[in-house]
Amino acid sequence: MTDNLELSHQKKREFQPQRLSAPRDFMMPEVLSKDEVSLVLEIGAGKGKHALSFAQQNPDKHLIAIERTRNKFDAFAKLAAQQNSNNLDAIHADAIAWIVHAIAPNSIDSIFILYPNPEQHNPNQQWLNMPFFEFLLSRLKVGGEVILATNIDAYMDNAEQQAHEVWCIPNRRRKVKSDSQRTHFEVKYLARQETCWQLTMSKPKGYRTRFDNWAIGNP
Ligand SMILES: C[S@@+](CC[C@H](N)C(=O)[O-])C[C@H]1O[C@@H](n2cnc3c(N)ncnc32)[C@H](O)[C@@H]1O
Repeated sequence: MTDNLELSHQKKREFQPQRLSAPRDFMMPEVLSKDEVSLVLEIGAGKGKHALSFAQQNPDKHLIAIERTRNKFDAFAKLAAQQNSNNLDAIHADAIAWIVHAIAPNSIDSIFILYPNPEQHNPNQQWLNMPFFEFLLSRLKVGGEVILATNIDAYMDNAEQQAHEVWCIPNRRRKVKSDSQRTHFEVKYLARQETCWQLTMSKPKGYRTRFDNWAIGNP
């Protein structure tokens, strides 16, 4: 598997984390200075429906949920303040720069990417097509998972193919249950009787990336 990964890397442009400045008003969440916390990330949390219920249902885990669009983040932040879960951080930032500046290698248990923007006209912006995805995998612990959901067949077909052929990471695809209500977009698509897909990718033991020892200040 390592050989395949190295081969596919030769075709993939290398992500350049050192080029990314810290997001405006960047602050390191307190939880990242603690040991033995089970850390979960959500990228593109929207108005926070999934993040808020995940934090309530998983008091043993700490969720950092990142949303870049101001009006969605404001709605999320308001609800997060009302709920006041001490195991949830709502972050207004571009997730790529924020993760580069905040997250240590081999430190995350799960990463949710639920109903990302389809990027049909700009497929190189789909998460599994981006060089950043290698960096993201370096932040996962062994056995950690990336959970991707979408209602777009072509997005899922491509993600599944990239997971196999480029990232060489074990994965399983399934249909999201028709009564699932994790996010606002999921509720909307399932109400229209659309098929929603989920791809769960798990980082195996011995998996290598070019960023396994890369951390801010120690590139
Ligand atoms: C289609 S919406 C889905 C929102 C939510 N996950 C849901 O299912 O209801 C995708 C969200 O991802 C956010 N997003 C896209 N790229 C992002 C990035 N690089 N960092 C943070 N958020 C991002 C967008 O602002 C948008 O709110």
